Amino acid sequence: MEIKSVKIGKVKTKNNLFLAPLAGYSDAALRIICRDYGAGLAFTEMVSCKGLKYGNEKTSDILFTYPEEDIKAVQIFGNDPLIMGEIASSSYLEKFDIIDINMGCPVPKIYNNGEGSALLNDLSLASKIISEVKKSGKAVSVKFRIGLTEGNFVTKEFAKMCEDSGADMITIHGRVKTAIYSGPCNYDEIRKAKESVKIPVIGNGGIFSLKDADEMVANTGVDGVMIARGAMNNPMIFAEILKTPNAIPIKEEMLKHLKLLEDRYGEERTAIIFRKQMAFYLKGYKDSKKLKEKVFSAKRSSEIKEVILSL
Ligand SMILES: Cc1cc2nc3c(=O)[nH]c(=O)nc-3n(C[C@H](O)[C@H](O)[C@H](O)COP(=O)(O)O)c2cc1C
Repeated sequence: MEIKSVKIGKVKTKNNLFLAPLAGYSDAALRIICRDYGAGLAFTEMVSCKGLKYGNEKTSDILFTYPEEDIKAVQIFGNDPLIMGEIASSSYLEKFDIIDINMGCPVPKIYNNGEGSALLNDLSLASKIISEVKKSGKAVSVKFRIGLTEGNFVTKEFAKMCEDSGADMITIHGRVKTAIYSGPCNYDEIRKAKESVKIPVIGNGGIFSLKDADEMVANTGVDGVMIARGAMNNPMIFAEILKTPNAIPIKEEMLKHLKLLEDRYGEERTAIIFRKQMAFYLKGYKDSKKLKEKVFSAKRSSEIKEVILSL
């Protein structure tokens, strides 16, 4: 795929390889690691506008960023245009350059609340949300799926609605809600939407290698790609796609990842927080089962550090 900058409203990214919002994973530390490997943009996990409005502390913890994050991108979710607009213009999101709106989450708790992918059903509400968030004056993007169920696609119509409502970029996850995260991506749907709007379109879904990224772009014409599980498993994927020679060895970045968390949370909490990410990092290593057991029984992050040093 061609590596190029993407213009999202007034914001220009250094390239078109993005780390997806990942609940429980795309925290500030993983975002730094992915940037070290060249990601042009990295989103926070989704944050609830109602959670922020009603002062939930865990929710505001998601908004932590490092100064090295030169372009800061947050993802929000909700279904009340006025609350979402209010949060977009509030001090909570002041430091962010880009606000992405989640219109694709399939999780029942979110969907049944009329949030995330439920908005695929209600173009008029989705449009009101985008225009209210846009009043913040920030660059606004929307991440959505191609539809709720197979065959009942809304992609092109939804893409046009996003553009007409003021979105500066859209990201299309090429699967329907009921597919959750499995099965192939529907390139045709992404391509039709891409051809019908002028704003940048990013393709998402099933990118685990350079070949997958090339295939997404060749089949859809999208302006860039967004990677979720492929980056969670292997943040080096960005360097692979960029064909960066001498990318930092993954072991060094694992240690950096651990240290970033230790500095924020201390040794004991880090041991718990870092476990699930380590399980991904250890995939493919010899004796990975044993190593994972060690990591999962660690009480302090120093024990995880020993595992990393032994790799
Ligand atoms: C653990 C996990 C957490 C996710 N959290 C979010 C989220 O907070 N916001 C969002 O828009 N999508 C979320 N997604 C969906 C991903 O961003 C992405 O759209 C999906 O995984 C497809 O991309 P992939 O095939 O590269 O994994 C999540 C996916 C996973 C597996």
